[in-house]
Amino acid sequence: MKATIIGAGNIGKALAEGLVESGAAERSDITLTRRTANALDSFASEGFAVASDNRAAVAGADVVFLCILPQQLDAVLDEIVSVLEPQRQLVVSVVTGAHSNDLRKHLGPEARIIRAMPNTALRVKSSMTCLAASGATDKDLQFVQQLFGTMGTSIVIKEELMSAATALCACGIAFFLRSIRAASQGGVEIGFHAQDAIHIAAQTAMGAAQLILQNGTHPEEEIDKVTSPKGCTIAGLNEMEHQGLSSAFIKGIKLSATIAGQLYQK
Ligand SMILES: NC(=O)c1ccc[n+]([C@@H]2O[C@H](COP(=O)([O-])OP(=O)(O)OC[C@H]3O[C@@H](n4cnc5c(N)ncnc54)[C@H](OP(=O)(O)O)[C@@H]3O)[C@@H](O)[C@H]2O)c1
Repeated sequence: MKATIIGAGNIGKALAEGLVESGAAERSDITLTRRTANALDSFASEGFAVASDNRAAVAGADVVFLCILPQQLDAVLDEIVSVLEPQRQLVVSVVTGAHSNDLRKHLGPEARIIRAMPNTALRVKSSMTCLAASGATDKDLQFVQQLFGTMGTSIVIKEELMSAATALCACGIAFFLRSIRAASQGGVEIGFHAQDAIHIAAQTAMGAAQLILQNGTHPEEEIDKVTSPKGCTIAGLNEMEHQGLSSAFIKGIKLSATIAGQLYQK
């Protein structure tokens, strides 16, 4: 597979590394672009193909990944439309808030588009990626599912849920990272060195996630197994709830989803 990633920023870089790590593509078959040419030097020295000309980069690709910011999307689409071959080239957009109809207005009715909402855990083959297809074939969707499957797990959702997916999945990684940091700060106050505290908190978070994913149980079922009557876990947990733990998560996720839906329009 020859892939072009337009926008070698946070997610473009994570995607490139994920594709290589998972064996889906060789470094030399991945072309990364951005406007700041010298910022691409480090990618070139790692063996990736690089370009600051999006049109030239799109020409040889089987799949074109759009990894630019919402406010940069229109200019990029107008730039590549004359070289993009809708019959041959699949477009995968990770751009927040841009509906497939917005892309189609620029790329034409035949464009095969898949929207993907991954997170930066692509790098370590642990992303949750939500996918929605528009005008793409079943084969395209299977291919992209398989591709993101090599970098974690993917599910297909209705496109109308893409802003919700952005909040829960793409922004979500930051929410869980912050919760790990918060736990580790508590750990330092009760006696651990910072590095040990982060290690213990992160591994504990991974264990909690694995219990849910592997057992298919509800979080409360697993919590019931940890909370003995009059015990220390329920005391800590209830104190966190009195301070608004669940409420803070719910409010934060709702706000992120609202803003995600407005980013391209603004
Ligand atoms: N970060 C995440 O975790 C995440 C997760 C899911 C989805 N997303 C979405 O992915 C997109 C990218 O996010 P990000 O965090 O990776 O942003 P970012 O770090 O700002 O990356 C955007 C990249 O696009 C490049 N760029 C801008 N205009 C360009 C152009 N005309 N041609 C080629 N490259 C261009 C920028 O480099 P130059 O300025 O040098 O051109 C920059 O490297 C956004 O739409 C975001 O909502 C992000």
